[in-house]
Amino acid sequence: MRPSLRPVCIAGTGACAPKQVLSNAELAQRVDTDDAWIVSRTGIRERRVAGPGETCSELGAGAAKHALEMAGLDAHQVDCIVVATITPDTVFPSTAAYIQRLLGCDRTAGFDLSAACSGFVYGLTVASSLVAAGTYDNVLLVGAEVMTSITDPLDRNTCILFGDGAGACLLRPAAKGEPSEILHSILRVECDDQVLVVPAGGSNLPASHDTVEARQHYMKMQGRATFRFAVTSFKSLFEETLEAAGITQERLRWIVPHQVNQRIIEAAAKRTGFPTERIAVNLDRFGNTSAAGIPMCLDELVREGKLERGDHVLFVAFGAGLTWGSVLVRW
Ligand code: UT7
Repeated sequence: MRPSLRPVCIAGTGACAPKQVLSNAELAQRVDTDDAWIVSRTGIRERRVAGPGETCSELGAGAAKHALEMAGLDAHQVDCIVVATITPDTVFPSTAAYIQRLLGCDRTAGFDLSAACSGFVYGLTVASSLVAAGTYDNVLLVGAEVMTSITDPLDRNTCILFGDGAGACLLRPAAKGEPSEILHSILRVECDDQVLVVPAGGSNLPASHDTVEARQHYMKMQGRATFRFAVTSFKSLFEETLEAAGITQERLRWIVPHQVNQRIIEAAAKRTGFPTERIAVNLDRFGNTSAAGIPMCLDELVREGKLERGDHVLFVAFGAGLTWGSVLVRW
């Protein structure tokens, strides 16, 4: 961060998950799979599924309330709401607009940001820049997804992986004497619309009877290619970020990665030499919740007292776009 900019502190975190749990055994009644296969190939044991009333904005607002409470702020003090999501309530209004209404913020800006599973690191870079530049003081960053709304319940390649949920952070300028700072960020995009894509429903192929019949409103994924891309980008983001920030991996307390697949995380840990015990994971209980996974996992670390002010924590993410990115934070 340039010295003329204000150092930024993540003053509050929060999470919110739907009530309904979907186990691997329940999925095995719907598609040709089994618990042992899913656990050994992904590490996922169960995920949450949004029910009626548990929209993307409801989950996001639930997480945001907890983050505001931890930061000791109320809704009237929020200056901007940034929502990272690829499963908004509606194409428009934005999910940020619905969250404004749910929270009762009365003088806030708000917009959505689309970077798929990299949404949280993109959002953190944008939200922290708004605070660092002095544009806003209190920025609420929400990662919220109802991934089950775009996942084909009959496609065993994808339906075993994804779940629903939301996480949130409240960003504000660091107070005098607080060690907190956003130290470095890397963001990348390179178009590939074959590896991970929802083919229909956008302006290129508007939803129609035919697109629904062909199940083109659901995501299509090349699992192997995504796997390779995730391991490679995890390693390069890890190395580039630490080198750019000039810190060694021993000084890094935690990596909070995109909650993608235990095997991807272990393969990346092996290639980087970073100990898996210091890589935070919640995918066993929530599956892949796209932009919500990192802030949900971060909230667990904070509430369990595993992250202290002054600790270094690295967020790494990769996903559709293709997008990938990282943010290094001094907590
Ligand atoms: O945010 C990014 C989102 N994307 C991801 O996270 C995906 C990353 N990729 C992966 O996690 C893995 O590639 C998968 C978990 C999707 C698949 O694991 P894999 O080890 O790459 O398996 P595979 O696709 O190579 O398939 C191996 C076998 C195949 O059978 P044959 O051809 O060897 O007879 C598949 O048909 O496993 C079969 N298979 C399944 N079997 C039981 C594929 N899905 C399943 C399933 N249950 N759900």
